[in-house]
Amino acid sequence: MSMTYRATYDASMADPDAFWMQAAKAIHWTKPPSKALFDRGDNMYEWFADGLTNGCYNAVDRHVEQGRGDQPAIIHDSPITGSKSTLTYAELQTRVASLAGALVAQGVTKGDRVIIYMPMVPEALEAMLACARIGAIHSVVFGGFAAHELAVRIDDCAPKAILAASCGIEPGRVIHYKPLLDDAIAQAQHRPDVCLILQREQERADLIPGRDLDWHAAQEGVAPAACVPVEGNHPAYILYTSGTTGAPKGVVRPTGGHLVALNWTMKNIYQCDPGDVFWAASDVGWVVGHSYICYAPLIHGNTTVVFEGKPVGTPDPGTFWRVISEHNVRSFFTAPTAIRAVKREDPKGTYKAKYDLSGLRALYLAGERADPDTIEWAQNLLQVPVYDHWWQTETGYTIAGNPAGLEALPVKIGSPTVAMPGYDVQILDEAGHPQAPGELGAIAIKLPLPPGTLPTLWNATERFQKSYLTTFPGYYETGDAGMIDDDGYLYIMARTDDVINVAGHRLSTGAMEEVLAAHPDVAECAVVGVSDALKGQSPLGLLCLTSGVNRPHDEITQECVKLVRDQIGPVAAFKTAVVVDRLPKTRSGKILRGTVVKIADSQAFKMPATIDDPAILDEIKAALQTVGYAN
Ligand code: COA
Ligand code: AMP
Repeated sequence: MSMTYRATYDASMADPDAFWMQAAKAIHWTKPPSKALFDRGDNMYEWFADGLTNGCYNAVDRHVEQGRGDQPAIIHDSPITGSKSTLTYAELQTRVASLAGALVAQGVTKGDRVIIYMPMVPEALEAMLACARIGAIHSVVFGGFAAHELAVRIDDCAPKAILAASCGIEPGRVIHYKPLLDDAIAQAQHRPDVCLILQREQERADLIPGRDLDWHAAQEGVAPAACVPVEGNHPAYILYTSGTTGAPKGVVRPTGGHLVALNWTMKNIYQCDPGDVFWAASDVGWVVGHSYICYAPLIHGNTTVVFEGKPVGTPDPGTFWRVISEHNVRSFFTAPTAIRAVKREDPKGTYKAKYDLSGLRALYLAGERADPDTIEWAQNLLQVPVYDHWWQTETGYTIAGNPAGLEALPVKIGSPTVAMPGYDVQILDEAGHPQAPGELGAIAIKLPLPPGTLPTLWNATERFQKSYLTTFPGYYETGDAGMIDDDGYLYIMARTDDVINVAGHRLSTGAMEEVLAAHPDVAECAVVGVSDALKGQSPLGLLCLTSGVNRPHDEITQECVKLVRDQIGPVAAFKTAVVVDRLPKTRSGKILRGTVVKIADSQAFKMPATIDDPAILDEIKAALQTVGYAN
């Protein structure tokens, strides 16, 4: 008998241990855990810590053993290179065991870190799974980051090996991964022992003797590696995400909890039965890619689609609909930005008419706020439910969503729906008092967080405590603000920190400010996220120049744009900066970023009571108008 959402949620709150031990039965354990939750004191928790399991065995081998060997595990659909291919579970097992064998031959063992810097090819998933197979901890770095960002990650996690491809392909240009990698290693203090390079036919890279090995050559003659059982609290991976400063946070994902929780979501949230085709159109470099391109669908015995292309231009805005119909995708997950991109090029949805989408059950949106226009457009076009859901790199899966596979709740546009099992979501005022329904506040989650969520930050427990656990004692601080209505539906309104969301990509304005401040002519600066019709937000820089500088301003702003692209990467999408005489500040010297955003977006705002000099806002407005804002 299936339970309702309410009964399930209540069970997870009343007896978390029993609830998650039950869910853990769907996972293979070499040694089952004796209990679910381990309280480590100081508000730190772990799940399934005394069990033994293996992520790769659960995602690959056990499906082969249970008769799914001939089922497609990965469909690679790459309109940008004009290729398509399929790997069965049996083929995936052979390839992953072989790659893992090559890592072992290079001395990589349990607990060693391995950086993966790859585009959307099946080998990226094979790399992740090969690490999981031998208990190595992977850290995937998104291809749109510049060498410096890669170097920062190399120094933070000190990888023994790096797995990379020769190149990635963006519309109209080849991304030269290998030179970026060489540059990053040159910038870093830490040196990896070995780099395995996948040579793609679009561009072959020069290999550095003594350090670089060809991906396939490295596997010749080595024994396939077996799965190594690891403790439930052993880190499966580290994924760096943007915080308030330039130093990214290394979110740690524990093995046991992530297997149990991700497996639970595939049916209860995404309505998938084993064998169904599931597609998340994201990138392996983001958390959506980790959880829903690689791990969850494979853990659950689904077929996952690895899509190397864009929503538009590869070759047209019908690409999504082609992939869904051609591969019989049952549940489709993407970011609202991607749907906005399609809508902008094909507002009437004429491309959709060419394809049979009758197999599609639902569209799932996450990664940024889903605006009502986009949701309604997609509902009308696709004639299936559109489910917004809210989560973060830190949690690895849905905090609030619509548990459609358990019980489809009525959709309220503008709300990602309700808290998922294990998440005690509350709205708090500044003093930490719970707010009444309908009142705005900081969104916090009462500890402990459920399994699979971050237990800490890599090598930075103090920073973990300070970033997430200090503001509201006994709670995890999400960094988002919002409210809960009378029906328990959650609404996400804004970030409470300096994180912005550009095309579903999480970026730190603080990191961009650090780069701009390093320009010799910049004395002071501020970066804010202004509204963008396609990308949700886009970064905009305000620059105060060092006194005495009198070069043309557009020369300086162009240098600044280039600096951010070179240091952080094209993904920052930092295209606009403007010179101002001074920045608007409070009397205590805090920059009024929120007010600048409102002025840029031409929204009404209240004069901040603490502003030092109100006249400055007219200057800011005039400056913003010169670059197309505040009109
Ligand atoms: N490697 C190298 N460069 C990359 C890259 C990658 N993997 N991904 C993006 N870039 C580059 C882009 O080419 C672009 O460069 P440009 O400034 O020279 O044009 C820049 O980074 C910014 O990329 P993006 O913000 O993605 O903008 P876009 O104009 O290329 O595409 C969309 C816009 C909406 C089509 C695109 O953002 C998209 O498909 N978004 C889906 C959202 C998503 O996957 N989110 C992940 C979380 S669910
Ligand atoms: P990331 O860690 O990159 O997944 O980004 C997480 C952040 O993106 C959240 O803290 C929110 O600010 C935002 N976000 C993700 N999903 C949603 C959503 N469905 N609605 C509103 N904001 C979202």
